[in-house]
Amino acid sequence: MAIRKVALMGHPILRQVAQPVPEKDISSEAIQTLIQDMVETMVEYDGRGLAAPQIHVSLQIVVMIWDFDPGVEPYLKVLINPEIEPLTQETSTFPEGCLSVPGLQGDVPRPNWIKVRALDQKGERIGFEAKGFAATVIQHECDHLLGKLYIDRIADLSRLAFTKEYGRYLKPLSDDDGSL
Ligand code: NI
Repeated sequence: MAIRKVALMGHPILRQVAQPVPEKDISSEAIQTLIQDMVETMVEYDGRGLAAPQIHVSLQIVVMIWDFDPGVEPYLKVLINPEIEPLTQETSTFPEGCLSVPGLQGDVPRPNWIKVRALDQKGERIGFEAKGFAATVIQHECDHLLGKLYIDRIADLSRLAFTKEYGRYLKPLSDDDGSL
């Protein structure tokens, strides 16, 4: 296992569409080590999620700390080849940050109820719904697999700021945030 270098905005890999992982490869040592490295890197940099392109690997893999279920201890969620279907036109706006865009924070409106289909780290099919900030976190991470960054989706650029200034001058529209 290893902590990997995080790709920063401007690196072309963050703008590429990532390749799906062949199902038969998920159990391979290469993919399992990659997932472990992603987790180790996310923890090291205090992120709550990380996508493979952020460590210079253009594959459709996302890892997240899942702490959205009341009464359930936080656990690791791994999404491989994820597909997202919005279940509503309604949006919520949360402040987002990103390990690939350090030091900044900005408000991003996103559909606030989604369905997610993916494979997990064992290659098993999973499907679930997510609402609110959980839906935002998933969409942020899965955007990385499409070559998108959260700043692309900011509706009002006056709501993009350095983290310290955001905290000082911009009143969050919600009370949750974090580096995604
Ligand atoms: Ni990010």
